[in-house]
Amino acid sequence: MKLVGKITRVNGPLVSMEITESVQLMEMVYISHLKLVGEVLSIEDASAVIQVYETTEGIKLDEPVYGSGLPLSVELGPGLLAQIFDGIQRPLEAIAKETNSIYLKRGAIVSALNRDKKWMFTPTVMVGAVLAKGAIIGSVPETELVIHHIMIPPNLKGTIKTISPIGNYTIDEVIATLEDENGTIHELKLAHRWPVKVPRPYKTRFLPSEPLLTGQRIIDIFFPVAKGGAVAIPGGFGTGKTITQHQLAKWSDAKIVIYVGCGERGNEITEVLEEFPKLIDPHTQRPLFDRTVMIANTSNMPVTAREASIYTGITIAEYYRDMGYDVAVMADSSSRWAEALRELSGRLEEIPAEEGFPAYLGSKLASFYERAGRVEMHNGNQGSVTMIAAVSPPGGDFSEPVTQNTKRFVRAFWQLDKALASARHYPSINWIYSYSEYVDYISPWWEKNIDPDIVNIRQEAYNLLLREEKLQKIVKLIGADALPDNERLVLEVVQILKDGFLKQNAYDDIDMYTTPEKQVAILKLIMDFYKEAGLIVAQGAPIFEIRALDCFPMIIRARIEIPNEDMEGFKKLSLFIKDELNTLRLKYERVAKGAK
Ligand SMILES: Nc1ncnc2c1ncn2[C@@H]1O[C@H](COP(=O)(O)OP(=O)(O)OP(=O)(O)O)[C@@H](O)[C@H]1O
Ligand SMILES: [Mg+2]
Repeated sequence: MKLVGKITRVNGPLVSMEITESVQLMEMVYISHLKLVGEVLSIEDASAVIQVYETTEGIKLDEPVYGSGLPLSVELGPGLLAQIFDGIQRPLEAIAKETNSIYLKRGAIVSALNRDKKWMFTPTVMVGAVLAKGAIIGSVPETELVIHHIMIPPNLKGTIKTISPIGNYTIDEVIATLEDENGTIHELKLAHRWPVKVPRPYKTRFLPSEPLLTGQRIIDIFFPVAKGGAVAIPGGFGTGKTITQHQLAKWSDAKIVIYVGCGERGNEITEVLEEFPKLIDPHTQRPLFDRTVMIANTSNMPVTAREASIYTGITIAEYYRDMGYDVAVMADSSSRWAEALRELSGRLEEIPAEEGFPAYLGSKLASFYERAGRVEMHNGNQGSVTMIAAVSPPGGDFSEPVTQNTKRFVRAFWQLDKALASARHYPSINWIYSYSEYVDYISPWWEKNIDPDIVNIRQEAYNLLLREEKLQKIVKLIGADALPDNERLVLEVVQILKDGFLKQNAYDDIDMYTTPEKQVAILKLIMDFYKEAGLIVAQGAPIFEIRALDCFPMIIRARIEIPNEDMEGFKKLSLFIKDELNTLRLKYERVAKGAK
């Protein structure tokens, strides 16, 4: 830490300085005697503008600015999981214990990771081993649920000169030394630092051909997201953004969850801080927290910290990806993050674009959505980072700039619908306006692993939903009774689709999670019923007789009554439906014959 200048202006979270010793763009600096953390935003002649990640109240002119010589970076190593950090990776809980409050003391230079804790390290390489960039040199059991692979930094390669034996080490102890191609010796520890705005390197990027299975039917079947994909959940106030993210955190087949909470209201984030650590991982019955890192912005922190938090989150995500894990990043909500950008841009007196957001809103959004991907690293591991961002458009108006710009960078879009939510149709994902460009990429996976007919079944069901939407418009004008029976059948079957497939109760023990097999089984029941019933209606059976069949409500209840394990139950129900429809068909065949 060296003196690089003095403060000449304070404007909220922005501080101007006069440069006396060289500083770099994006360098992390410490402001005033309090040593508040900041980042150099711009340099002009002998002055620089710094964004400060803490409240600048009480800062005086002429106070010193210290340089660090490094860009804003995070510490990556064991001890990240089951922690809550702020936007610049200060551990909120550890500090809360010391200060009895979730609010940090300003300028508290605290270490991100616990420096005293000893980790049981088991080396996996020997002296003389020639290592690729980011290679794994050993492992540490980080939590009950996660083995933490210790890697050399992803920009370093060379030959192992020394390696410590199996044993307990702190993150400050040297556990290995490595000689790079220039003959320089590097000391390696359990943790290393990485600048948050620099994507961690990888070797190849794969097509998004593997689904991130979520156990949520409308998502997995109709609007899937791929591992390494990016998806937005736009939705007005109280439409279910947070619950959807919680469902994915619990049930998706991502191994690691990074939760970035950007709340506006103070209690919004407190709720999450209280709720999230209580969630139980359904796969292991252990706290979900054991495979989660939380980044939270408390309300007393300046907007600058909010801006940093998303980069901190995605950098930690890339780190676990490099170990070979599938990681899901949940940002709730990216709108609050964008609002931070707007406020900063205003203070910088930049020319505003749409609704006061800066013209670079799009490129800023791109800078983190583009870090999602399923990739192979130089160390040979394969892993993925999937971005799942909630967007909260003011007044639920989806034409606003954050929603529209987000659309440019995500390939799946789950638009939550106020009307569905008020009708307690959850998840309130609107099937007309939502979309996923991952469908074609992941269909081969579904055909190979779940059902060879999935593409047809999905398309038929989706067409039916679109057809019903059109019919509903006519019904509004002339009433359902005026429709021919085959179209009234569409209305009835789509009702089954809505109540028996699209709706999914996050609080019901059986319904909360659906295996891909059960998803297909329900959808097949419904579509088979539609085809059979269609033939009978064509023979002259009236709709009310179809509606009165016992199997009608049974199909709707299958999602709640037949558990995932009971695939026999679906076979039995399918036979029952066939029987009942058969009886009805025979009746109308007789009627038809009689008429002749
Ligand atoms: N899948 C679901 N199953 C059952 N109930 C749900 C589901 N999704 C949402 N809800 C209900 O909707 C309520 C609001 O959901 P949630 O808090 O996720 O909305 P939000 O969009 O995050 O709201 P905010 O705008 O306040 O952040 C929940 O408390 C819950 O009662
Ligand atoms: Mg919410």
